[in-house]
Amino acid sequence: MKVIIRNNSSEGSLWAARHIAERITRKASVTDKPFVLGLCTGSTPLETYAELIRMVKDCELSFRNVITFNMDEYVGIPEEHPESYHSFMHRSLFDHIDIPEENIHILNGNAPDLEKECREYEEAISREGGFDLFLGGVGEDGHIAFNEPFSSLSSRTRPITLTADTRRVNSRFFGGDPDAVPAKALTVGVATVTSSQEVVILAFGSKKARALRDAIEGPLSHACTLSCLQNHPCSTIVCDEDSVGELKVNSYRYFKAVEEAEGM
Ligand code: GLP
Repeated sequence: MKVIIRNNSSEGSLWAARHIAERITRKASVTDKPFVLGLCTGSTPLETYAELIRMVKDCELSFRNVITFNMDEYVGIPEEHPESYHSFMHRSLFDHIDIPEENIHILNGNAPDLEKECREYEEAISREGGFDLFLGGVGEDGHIAFNEPFSSLSSRTRPITLTADTRRVNSRFFGGDPDAVPAKALTVGVATVTSSQEVVILAFGSKKARALRDAIEGPLSHACTLSCLQNHPCSTIVCDEDSVGELKVNSYRYFKAVEEAEGM
């Protein structure tokens, strides 16, 4: 696991956007096969998305041969709801880049058969040859996508009941009322994320400090599903100074030394 520690979220987001762009461009230079990209929601990726949009507008990057699969979606709110992840993704990224609409995949939280929807999502990911890169965030309790604590580390895409904590944290998008946050969601599994060739996780701000400490220094555990990165051959956490406040000084120093030695 690599941990890239930048001074603030803007610098971290810039690093992530450049990294994703470099991966897309590099694959395009050697094959016609599409780049398969996993994407996340939340406030954390917004600056990264803004930089990717800028690159497309300035003709430095194209999403014409990129296929995306989003991590998760609430169950039971209409797609047009401003806080659905469909709305969020179009507003924050897809409406501003050159990705063909048919290349975009987001779970349907209103499907008549939710289990079937999840099975078919996994099948669609496999048909595209699996993920080249998965971009994710992390919840304050260490959840990845909506894989709440005690989700199996070998889980796949499925319906999930959200914790009271997640509904409280996400209530800021629903007028401050935790009961207005849907109680259920569809989410890719932990193993869906770790099946990606590369995983990049963004974490900014002191509210993520406990999650990073548990994921980086704690045991591999279903209590902190982000700890799944410990078992992944190519994972990077891109974070800022505030979010590493709970790491041991020696861990912090080591990650900074690696960054310097490897010129990241
Ligand atoms: C939700 C999403 C996660 C996201 C997390 C953090 O729970 N399902 O994918 O990582 O929120 O959100 P934020 O970036 O707003 O802190």
